[in-house]
Amino acid sequence: MSNISFKTLSPQVQIPVSTVRPFNIAVAGTGYVGLVSGVCMAHRGHRVTCVDIDEKKIALMLKGISPIYEQDLEALMQLNKERLTYTMDYKNAYKNADVIFIGVGTPEQPDGSANMFYIANVARQIAETIEKDCLIVVKSTVPVGTNDKVEQFIQDFLVHDVKAEVASNPEFLAQGTAVRDTLEAPRIIIGTDSDKAEETLQAVYEPFGLPIVSVSRRSAEMIKYAANNFLALKVSYMNDIANLCELVGADIEDVARGMGYDSRIGSNFLHAGIGFGGSCFPKDTKALDYLATLHGYELRTVKAAIDVNKDQKVLLYQKACKRLITFNGLKAAVLGLTFKPGTDDLREAPALENINLLLAQGANIYAYDPIGSENCKNIIPETGTEQDRGKYKGKINYVNSAEEALEGANVCFIFTEWDEIKAVLPKDYKKLMRTPLVYDGRNIYDVNEMQENGVEYYSIGRA
Ligand code: UDX
Repeated sequence: MSNISFKTLSPQVQIPVSTVRPFNIAVAGTGYVGLVSGVCMAHRGHRVTCVDIDEKKIALMLKGISPIYEQDLEALMQLNKERLTYTMDYKNAYKNADVIFIGVGTPEQPDGSANMFYIANVARQIAETIEKDCLIVVKSTVPVGTNDKVEQFIQDFLVHDVKAEVASNPEFLAQGTAVRDTLEAPRIIIGTDSDKAEETLQAVYEPFGLPIVSVSRRSAEMIKYAANNFLALKVSYMNDIANLCELVGADIEDVARGMGYDSRIGSNFLHAGIGFGGSCFPKDTKALDYLATLHGYELRTVKAAIDVNKDQKVLLYQKACKRLITFNGLKAAVLGLTFKPGTDDLREAPALENINLLLAQGANIYAYDPIGSENCKNIIPETGTEQDRGKYKGKINYVNSAEEALEGANVCFIFTEWDEIKAVLPKDYKKLMRTPLVYDGRNIYDVNEMQENGVEYYSIGRA
């Protein structure tokens, strides 16, 4: 069981459970959005049934184990176990629910659009199951207009004579801080097209004691995309400026610090690096671009953010290619695999693309990540699959410490700013590596300090 650290949450969100009017809530999907939302709603006093089609995940959760790595989640699952149920039996879960939240995935399709298969599947199951009036709340990130379609779809498949309304309630949690982000959200967006739906959602969120912004369904759907795309743009903008900083002899860290004092800009999300990854920004930028194109509009700013990010992810690899004659037979230390610290998620992680490039060039990779190695082994196996064997010339080994990865290495790439990786001192690179050549995608170190310690150091946006 992880340490219960939610005592650090601000006191105003610790509302006693007894003050709550509890709802019977079902949550479809137990991924980062569904499970965290369900557990937090139980923590705020509601009775929650989490539904998933994955038998293994359900078995784990029934034992009080979280299937995903997320700070405080397992602790809250255990603390609220009398209000939480986990099941594959969606019929029972939906039949008795006052409110059903849909938190299933909307993965990216080859053309950039969001895949609505899972949403539609759940919507149909709900329509064919519910026996009393019910509010269906779409939490998954969906293209503008999807709530209308979901409502119509449910209407088309309803079996019993009941009223099923649909509301939008996008989720803004970030992985690694998902529980805190949910319990201390700066705002909750509810998108409804009827007073009844609005009242119900207001009542569900009342015990959270957080500001609620109530808008139309379409505006709510757009707020989610607009917010995520804005953040992605902010990151790509800083990466773009960082690349120019290198050319003109400025330092992006100083530039970001100077910019951040302006309250109109703010100091968050100004970190230049190896590009954004994860399950949201890459997918949501492409989905919004697709949506705009569908309506005959060219979203030029978002297109630029996507383009910059694509190049940014392989920037360090390209720099290393200019410096080294070959990767073939070199020992390459890879520090950090997940798309950011605090999560076990590798979706769109810059490390993956770079590892594949290095393997294709024959590098002998020693990879370290405090949490993500197991998941990475499923994507890039240590031994290589039958299928991979002909493809990769190099080899990957997953090791248990940064030091082990660095021992005798010819080159090192840093892709995730985990504390365990930040703890490696500049002198350790010099001491452990055969050639102290470091490419840092997260600007962890001071350039001068690395130089003083005899490390040949390349980072982002700094001379
Ligand atoms: C994001 C949004 O923050 C969240 O509100 C939404 O619900 C889902 O998408 P998440 O994908 O978990 O959350 O991670 P986030 O912390 O936002 O970082 C996204 C990516 O941007 C990461 O790859 C991160 O390394 C990168 N990033 C972030 C930067 O490169 N620089 C920054 O300054 C901030």
